[in-house]
Amino acid sequence: MTRRAASVDVVDQKRDSSPAPKAIPRHLAIIMDGNGRWAKKRFMPRVEGHRNGAKTVRMVVEECRKLGVRHLTLFAFSTENWRRPEEEVGGLMRLFVQHLESELELLLKNGIRLRAMGDLSRLPAAVRELLERNEERTKDLTGMDLILAVSYGGRDELVHAFRKLGRAVKAGELDPETVTEELVSRSLYLPDVPDPDLLIRTSDETRISNFLLWQLAYAEIVVSPELWPDFSRDEFHRCLHVFAGRNRRFGLTQEQASAS
Ligand code: IPE
Ligand code: IPE
Ligand code: MG
Repeated sequence: MTRRAASVDVVDQKRDSSPAPKAIPRHLAIIMDGNGRWAKKRFMPRVEGHRNGAKTVRMVVEECRKLGVRHLTLFAFSTENWRRPEEEVGGLMRLFVQHLESELELLLKNGIRLRAMGDLSRLPAAVRELLERNEERTKDLTGMDLILAVSYGGRDELVHAFRKLGRAVKAGELDPETVTEELVSRSLYLPDVPDPDLLIRTSDETRISNFLLWQLAYAEIVVSPELWPDFSRDEFHRCLHVFAGRNRRFGLTQEQASAS
């Protein structure tokens, strides 16, 4: 009895410190949720939760780079989040400025290319300019794509894509009958980025909340109970192991999926 328990422990420890390569999604998307609740539990203003969440962002970025994730998309601010109290939105924008300034070094040192997706025209000029500066400074780096979804909504992205296609039809450059799923994918904000394999959402919420609606069609979803500022490296690895154990069939039968 005791021996069995001990051997299980050893396996678990080994699992947490070194996920098998097949546990690594090519594109990982994360809904970083629970900052407000983290702060509330401590009788702090919500923005303190966002400030503390920044540490988790750094850990996840460094870990993904080490593990060989090719694209990491972080949901940082949604089109709906603009409706939050002015104080919180302002605090978040100031945090974006601060971290876009201070983390450029981390990106350069680790060969990480920064990309932004969303309706950036709604952002304060200071945030937009720093995003553009960091995108420009890191555009030739090939270690990993770090994609920040800011002022982003999945429906908003689709509206932009449909307008683009509509303009091409109007200009006589596109026959509507030739519109395919592939063409819609190529009309999105980042046409070259493959769909996410895994979506992680923290804080026990089981919603998509208007994130990557088109791209998540066949993503595996793993929900972590941890609030984002508490989301640890071990918990991250646990999520990757859950993903590795999933059976992705893409609509096929088990036999077909195993054969392909
Ligand atoms: C996620 O944390 C960060 C943003 C949405 C900007 P929340 O601020 O949503 O935290 P909860 O969900 O209220 O705890
Ligand atoms: C989604 O979280 C947006 C981000 C994490 C940036 P929300 O906290 O805004 O989503 P809901 O309101 O719980 O669905
Ligand atoms: Mg939330």
